[in-house]
Amino acid sequence: MDIVVVGDINADLIFTGLPSLPAFRQLKHAKGMKFTLGGSSAIFAYNIARLGAATGFVGKVGRDHVGDFLLDTLSSAGVDTSRVVRDATLPTGICVSMSFPQDYAMVSYPGIRESFILAEIDRDYVKRARHLHLSSFYLQPALQCGCLELFRSARAAGLTTSLDPDHDPREQWNSGMQQLLHEVDLFLPNETEALRISKTQNLTSAVRTFDSFGHTTVIKRGQDGVSVIRSGQIISAPAFNVKPVDTTGAGDSFNAGFIFQYLHGAPLEKCIAWGNACGALSTRALGGIDAFPTPSEVVQFLVERAHEMAALAGQPISA
Ligand SMILES: Nc1ncnc2c1ncn2[C@@H]1O[C@H](COP(=O)(O)OP(=O)(O)OP(=O)(O)O)[C@@H](O)[C@H]1O
Ligand SMILES: [Mg+2]
Repeated sequence: MDIVVVGDINADLIFTGLPSLPAFRQLKHAKGMKFTLGGSSAIFAYNIARLGAATGFVGKVGRDHVGDFLLDTLSSAGVDTSRVVRDATLPTGICVSMSFPQDYAMVSYPGIRESFILAEIDRDYVKRARHLHLSSFYLQPALQCGCLELFRSARAAGLTTSLDPDHDPREQWNSGMQQLLHEVDLFLPNETEALRISKTQNLTSAVRTFDSFGHTTVIKRGQDGVSVIRSGQIISAPAFNVKPVDTTGAGDSFNAGFIFQYLHGAPLEKCIAWGNACGALSTRALGGIDAFPTPSEVVQFLVERAHEMAALAGQPISA
């Protein structure tokens, strides 16, 4: 196994083309709808498997039709779901999203996903992979206290590790994150998450904080691209110019492209180019997986858009 992904999985139900949000006692008709795989960790697992990484997913779903649908979807990309826990005590989670051109409103029911704990993870299975990835740290309250041990034991077994914190809905931004960062090789927050977790006001200060942990930090900045910090150097790269249909899962798709190349030992510039290409291309359709590119589409896109890639020059942090 190249990579084992541990974390959140749920269904996403996305409505588009609504005239406005419905008020109480009102019915609004949507023009478009998609029922699809959701959860940052699951979207990431599906997408990196599509690129060709041998991938295992470990998470928790209910014993219901939605759980069946999610596991079938992961399997269709070649993801091994044999270690996913099924539990009938609560339904599988669903996130309903009403998507507008410039905004969205969401209702999320986490369901059984929130009860996933360290003891339910087959640790020998994790050790069979070369790399461990986890997304949505703050959305998995029961797993949080086990993450340090999970990452420590994975590293002791020779795996490299990556973490995408995602947003903290309680806006507390700790829950053991500082200790966990010592066990992470690749840290992949977006800009808001980077500032909140480092408790700093600007990116330069955040960069200094993260660099002290000794890992590579990849700060995703939406249509402004990405800044990567390693050993006191920052490499910034612009995003590709696209007209997004829906940016759900752009961060997870970026992670898939970046980590796919990282696992191949590619130089940082190539990891960034693949991350940016996968992030941009993933915005072509609703949801996190449908527009995700094949490896040959990524290569073709990078050739066509070579002129958009600014020279990736390293700059010292103090600059
Ligand atoms: N509008 C866009 N145009 C071009 N590229 C984009 C756009 N939005 C996102 N991307 C690409 O995807 C990457 C990740 O997106 P973003 O910064 O939104 O991550 P995120 O906030 O973690 O997203 P998510 O909501 O999936 O968690 C960006 O660094 C960029 O490469
Ligand atoms: Mg994200």
